[in-house]
Amino acid sequence: ATGYTTLDPGFVNTASTKSAITYIDGEKGILRYRGYPIEQLAEKASFIEVSYLLIYGELPTSEQLETFTDKIRRHTLLHEDLKRFFDGFPRNAHPMPVVSSAVNALSAYYPDSLDPDDSEQVELSTIRLLAKLPTIAAYAYKKSVGQPFLYPDNSLSLVENFLRMTFGFPAEPYEIDPEIAQALDMLLILHADHEQNCSTSTVRLVGSSDANLFTSISGGINALWGPLHGGANQAVLEMLEQIKNSGGDVNEFVRKVKNKEDGVKLMGFGHRVYRNYDPRAAIVKKTADSILKKLGAGDELLEIAMKLEEAALTDDYFIERKLYPNVDFYTGLIYRAMGFPDRMFTVLFALGRLPGWIAHWREMHSDPTLKIGRPRQIYVGHTERDYKGIDLR
Ligand code: SDX
Repeated sequence: ATGYTTLDPGFVNTASTKSAITYIDGEKGILRYRGYPIEQLAEKASFIEVSYLLIYGELPTSEQLETFTDKIRRHTLLHEDLKRFFDGFPRNAHPMPVVSSAVNALSAYYPDSLDPDDSEQVELSTIRLLAKLPTIAAYAYKKSVGQPFLYPDNSLSLVENFLRMTFGFPAEPYEIDPEIAQALDMLLILHADHEQNCSTSTVRLVGSSDANLFTSISGGINALWGPLHGGANQAVLEMLEQIKNSGGDVNEFVRKVKNKEDGVKLMGFGHRVYRNYDPRAAIVKKTADSILKKLGAGDELLEIAMKLEEAALTDDYFIERKLYPNVDFYTGLIYRAMGFPDRMFTVLFALGRLPGWIAHWREMHSDPTLKIGRPRQIYVGHTERDYKGIDLR
């Protein structure tokens, strides 16, 4: 055919975006939220504090944090009709489409919240999302295991409430394990934002058409589900299980990856921006050991993961391509040890990423020069040609 030109497959026409939220230096493995290093936030802050920081730009005073926490507490319930929404899904549905549909449905339950220029409504939608996503996520899990939904208990923190709604039963009190709650809180901080990644760019693109916050976030959840993005944390566990079930030979698996046999990849490795160790992976790895020991989780998969990392980090194929573990490589092991099924891992990623998505959507709408997103293309199709009747083709 005429008019075709070959393009370097790596060529991507990306419009650069200005943002003041998150800074990444991929070469040095630096990640900062509003200027604060991720290592300090992961160690010293709480997820709700970091959510406040990302969305409003500054760490909250104790009074601001109290007000913010209190506002969120008052919105953790779902509308009773929205609770029935879950009945329409098959029990074996993957929780990601259930969660993204329920989030999108919030646009129907709060019709006044649709105008992105109504700052009061945007504030209310922000609080509603932060408050209701944990409830929606817990209900998606309960639906998948056929257990009754629990109403939120607002005497608990956001993370504790989520754990209780997920693993608790109406018939008996649920004992919060503070170490698990603290570990999950830290993991949510690590996932809270990551500048213009695929799902955040989706939220910005959808939001740039003046679509409301709920529907924009729902778009981000859908993008996150992809195994090359947030879905990687589930894919890592499936990969480790596959290696274990085929005898645990990591070198054989690495050989397959290097030969690109059946397109197999080392899931949880590589990153478009980090050409060094993902700082989040380093933090997760440090805690993975202690949390897994505490939970007495099968550390066979952890052992395979560590052997796999060791094999990859010393192999020229990965070194030349600057492939290092990313945030997804170890998180799945911890989530599984906490009792979450693999299919909930990406839902947990979405729970963490929510404040980042909201912050980017609000930052974009605060720009008076905002224009609708319209990526350009390089046309490589046919040059002009005339229509031929069906008998002449
Ligand atoms: C997240 O953007 C973000 O910030 C995302 C994220 C966030 O917080 O939002 O950090 C979260 O999505 C982390 C990434 C999770 N995904 C995975 O772990 C899936 C496995 N990783 C790869 O699919 C890949 O590394 C990507 C998608 C993450 C990045 O891909 P790039 O930057 O497009 O790199 P590439 O595909 O061009 O790869 C360059 C080379 C290729 O080899 P050659 O063609 O040069 O021979 O490296 C190879 C790739 O085949 N390669 C891998 C590999 N990743 C890249 N080979 C084996 N295993 C891998 N994981």
